[in-house]
Amino acid sequence: MSSIHKFKKVKTAVIGCGMISDIYIRNLKELFDIIDLAAIANRSVNGAKEKANIYGIDRVMTIDEVAASQDIELVVNLTPADVHYSIVKQMLEAGKHVYTEKMFTTKLEEAEELMKIADDKNLLIAVAPDTVLGAGIQTARHYLDSGLIGGITSGFVSVNRDQCLMSELFRFLQQEGGAIPYDAGIYYIGALITLLGSVKRVSGFGAPALIHDKQLLFVKGNPDSWQIPGTNVLCGALEFESGVLVSIHFNGNNVGGEKTRFELFGTRGNMELGDPNRFDGEITISLPENEPVKMPFTHGFNGKNMLGDPKPFDGYGHRGVGVADLAYAIRQGRKNRLSKEYGYHCMEVLLGLDESIKSGKVYELKSRAEVEPLKPGFYSSMFDGTLRADAELSLV
Ligand SMILES: NC(=O)c1ccc[n+]([C@@H]2O[C@H](COP(=O)([O-])OP(=O)(O)OC[C@H]3O[C@@H](n4cnc5c(N)ncnc54)[C@H](O)[C@@H]3O)[C@@H](O)[C@H]2O)c1
Repeated sequence: MSSIHKFKKVKTAVIGCGMISDIYIRNLKELFDIIDLAAIANRSVNGAKEKANIYGIDRVMTIDEVAASQDIELVVNLTPADVHYSIVKQMLEAGKHVYTEKMFTTKLEEAEELMKIADDKNLLIAVAPDTVLGAGIQTARHYLDSGLIGGITSGFVSVNRDQCLMSELFRFLQQEGGAIPYDAGIYYIGALITLLGSVKRVSGFGAPALIHDKQLLFVKGNPDSWQIPGTNVLCGALEFESGVLVSIHFNGNNVGGEKTRFELFGTRGNMELGDPNRFDGEITISLPENEPVKMPFTHGFNGKNMLGDPKPFDGYGHRGVGVADLAYAIRQGRKNRLSKEYGYHCMEVLLGLDESIKSGKVYELKSRAEVEPLKPGFYSSMFDGTLRADAELSLV
């Protein structure tokens, strides 16, 4: 049995104290043995002070102080997508390893520049979504790799939600990167890359977001009407290097609650997957002569983070597992699973679809990515979910 206690903890700082920061801060502080969450920072120091009080973090810093600090090794960037480039660049130049929320950046050239800086300085970058390290997608990968449903020939993914209405509550969605492919579709693209490998070429048709008139009158500060920039309805096709063909359907001009579908079709059976924006998406396999069977999870990180008293945003599950994987990669001198190549490939697929929509032509991808699976047989809880267990060992 390998031990995780032999590794020195990685001193970590979080930058960005908005909505998603609660679950990251809580998990990084309390859940992952490898992380020493030493400091938090934000554009407004008051925002950081507030979270520091709630979660018991000793140090509140400015962003420049994080860059200048001698002891912080890893920075977790939880700012909006259009800010990622400048913050990741500043931290890499200061010699820090960086985990950043999705999308990596908003332009491919910016991500390429960051990747070069990381390579030149021998630093690692990790990019969300880290839900692909959750029990749902890792279990799916395990059964696919076992050959249970044969070779995959095709699949389809679909996500429909009222992105325009959501942008009233989550105001960062009103900016670049807020349309459905970048905000929600990226979880499906990340999951497909994790399960099926690199995408070779893409093509798509798309439509913009509707002009949205404010509906949630209790939310202060929104303009009377706005339009989320970019493609908000997308029908596309992906051809993977392996030859697998996948249809994608993202509709953010829809009404009502979120509806999702994710299916893969193999030569010996079919697999239905749950929502890859969650850690606990159910896996159902259909084989000839059998009723469809809901499969047991083969992996931990099932979204139930086992941290005692419930806190807001606990529903966001095991976010931070990609940070822990990066921390082990630093200590083990290996590549991290959610590598910069993974972040770049997710982004090139989405921007390639946009390019195809504009040009009317097929877009050939230049990048490649592979996500190393986690080890099976380690779980987040034991004794019917009453005790925390050893899932962290699956990262090592
Ligand atoms: N909210 C969600 O449900 C959710 C889920 C998954 C991922 N994400 C991603 O996480 C990131 C943050 O999302 P959020 O919902 O927490 O956003 P938010 O708007 O609630 O918070 C963003 C934080 O970044 C800070 N910030 C903004 N500009 C900055 C700058 N120039 N320098 C330093 N700090 C700056 C803000 O002060 C704020 O604290 C985004 O990339 C988003 O796509 C959000």
